[in-house]
Amino acid sequence: MNKKLFPAIAFGLLGALLAVGAVSACSSSAAEAPDKSRYDVQVEELLAKMTLDEKIGQLNQLTGVGCAPDRLEEIRNGAVGSILNEIDPDTVNALQREAVENSRLGIPLIIARDVIHGFKTIFPIPLGQAATWNPAIVEEGARIAADEASSVGVRWTFSPMVDVSRDARWGRIAESFGEDPHLASVLGVAMVKGYQGEDLAKPNTMAACVKHFVGYGASEAGKDYNTTWIPEPHLRDVYLPPFKACADAGAATFMCSFNDINGMPTNADRHLLRDILRDEWGWDGLMCSDWSSIQQMIPQGYSPDLKHAAEAAANAGVDMDMQGFAYIAHLKELVQEGKVSEKTIDGLVRNVLRTKFRLGLFDNPYVDIPTSRRFFAPASLEAARKAAEESAVLLKNANSILPLRDNLKIAVTGPLMDAKHDQNGTWVFDLEKDSTVTVLEAMREMYGPDRIIAAPGLSFSREKNPAAVAAAVAKARQADVILFVCGEEAVLSGEAHCRTDLTLPGGQKDMLRQLRATGKPVVSVVMTGRPMEINDIVENSDAILYVFHPGTMGGPAIANLISGKVNPSGHLPVCLPRASAQQPLYYSHKNTGRPAEGITYIDDIPLEAGQTSTGCTSFYLDAGDGALYPFGFGLSYTDFSYGPVVLSADRMGADGTLTASCEIENTGKLKGATVAQLYVRDLVGTLCRPVKELKGFEKITLEPGEKRTVTFTLRASDLAYHLADNTLAVEPGDFRLWIAPDSASGDPKEFAVD
Ligand code: GLC
Repeated sequence: MNKKLFPAIAFGLLGALLAVGAVSACSSSAAEAPDKSRYDVQVEELLAKMTLDEKIGQLNQLTGVGCAPDRLEEIRNGAVGSILNEIDPDTVNALQREAVENSRLGIPLIIARDVIHGFKTIFPIPLGQAATWNPAIVEEGARIAADEASSVGVRWTFSPMVDVSRDARWGRIAESFGEDPHLASVLGVAMVKGYQGEDLAKPNTMAACVKHFVGYGASEAGKDYNTTWIPEPHLRDVYLPPFKACADAGAATFMCSFNDINGMPTNADRHLLRDILRDEWGWDGLMCSDWSSIQQMIPQGYSPDLKHAAEAAANAGVDMDMQGFAYIAHLKELVQEGKVSEKTIDGLVRNVLRTKFRLGLFDNPYVDIPTSRRFFAPASLEAARKAAEESAVLLKNANSILPLRDNLKIAVTGPLMDAKHDQNGTWVFDLEKDSTVTVLEAMREMYGPDRIIAAPGLSFSREKNPAAVAAAVAKARQADVILFVCGEEAVLSGEAHCRTDLTLPGGQKDMLRQLRATGKPVVSVVMTGRPMEINDIVENSDAILYVFHPGTMGGPAIANLISGKVNPSGHLPVCLPRASAQQPLYYSHKNTGRPAEGITYIDDIPLEAGQTSTGCTSFYLDAGDGALYPFGFGLSYTDFSYGPVVLSADRMGADGTLTASCEIENTGKLKGATVAQLYVRDLVGTLCRPVKELKGFEKITLEPGEKRTVTFTLRASDLAYHLADNTLAVEPGDFRLWIAPDSASGDPKEFAVD
């Protein structure tokens, strides 16, 4: 179709709109971007004093080895710019003192740590936080993490991870905000704001690190560290927006990723790291490599040796070499050989020094020991409990078995019922597991020990123990209702922990079948790091709470939800599949020329069926099509009615706006929250367009009988997408718009862009 294109809009505009949730009625305001020139004079003055060796030293990040003599000597010689994984405040101060008081220029170190979803008070894994659809919850969790971690000297966290993740086999989906660019953008910005606060120079803040730049979530076959194939227009429409949003929100640092994009490792990708990130976006923060990712360009087959890798990464714009020893070993000779200019080195060093000034480290390098180790404040634990409550997604509630009525004997079963370690999920380096309040502990606290029958059956998620299961099932028969707390151990998701079988591991499926066979009502709580295949859980449970790994206060949160003290309000940030092999799976898919219809299932096919008799459309013979539970889905103990969408106009110009409203009523008997989601579809494009795209959301709480109208403002520029030549276009044509409680429901309203 030869369509008139409207003037391309700078990519930044699209990113900015996503960032502040311009079409969402509910978004955290973007953190103030730092005053870019505030430290220019100090940076230049310091840079002018530095030797080449000292400059290269600032680009070198090493993992902690305490106060080993040779480490102190490296610091004294100005050969280290940052240290990660030191979390003892006295050690941090000793290392910092060596840099500040005993090196020639006294440049302070940045101390870094992976504080991914809490330092000591553990919040739900980021995928669970995404299920809250609540930026304020995410921001508060990050603020608390920053206060706890900075109290031991950590001033740089390697979070938020905003990789759009659409393959449940990939273990790192646990660390992400799920499959949608808009949701990831809004929540990534909230996390940046929580870590950095209003003034990054305050000692109880941390520099955010937006990672992994970029496209890591598209790792082929859901296998970690794998290659990706992402055409640039798709990269700009799906994978870059959350990074752009965080850059615009003032994120102090970024981390590049392990993957290559179309054969080019991101660590060597000048187009990505300079043209887009610096020139197009104007971002001036610190770009760090991932752990030894510069060195890994050798096995990737891009660099023949470490020297080449150092040259490629420095010229591409990687400011700091995390534990790769490439820069410290080779940059000086590369400068002497003219392969890397000292001008390039100066550019990398400026980004490091600027970040240290922004962190206030020159004025305030040390940990205040008397106020150090600020952990587990009551308010922090309450915030963690609220986050866990809001992260739980009610998928099924047959016969309103939940909330449990009074005076029931409850059997608490399953391998995650009392899991002080595994309840916290992946990336909890600093967990003190005794601080975890488990489901069993919380249920006993809530219902009294006499009404709770503890029958784990399995002691960890991979265990197969038929005898123990049989004993537990026999014990559970004494109860009126069975709570089955199942899922994955923490180690089964996260980095390098990918799975091809997304069902319950170990003997859990068999245990659930046996529990079901008792004839008692079964409530399953699925504690996991990923979207799982849960057909058997659906078949054998009356109710299902999908809680991801909920963290320190997951137990009390689940007890509050089971008892009805709290009404579930989580909505899925990912699709749940019908089959493990149905990956990648996401709602914002293309329609294809033969969208699924007339699905024939494998067991229904007659013998010697004719070649075309099963239909020729896009579905699986053994799984059909679409998600078992769609993106955005979540039930409540009450009911909500979404009225028709009302548009302020049925057409707008390329620079126009319209509003879309919907009256929502709580038609049930309990107070509850729902997430109104705004989706649009571009029916015809120069390139095929997705069947739906999330453009806004608002979580609202309504009393029984209460009605409220939610209104979104949609700009034509929110409908822009990248054409094959990377121009960002708003194309005229017909569109559909929904305001609905998930990505699979609601009646569309038509409108046009002229
Ligand atoms: C890891 C991860 C990255 C993390 C870093 C430091 O390999 O890829 O997300 O921040 O190394 O631990």
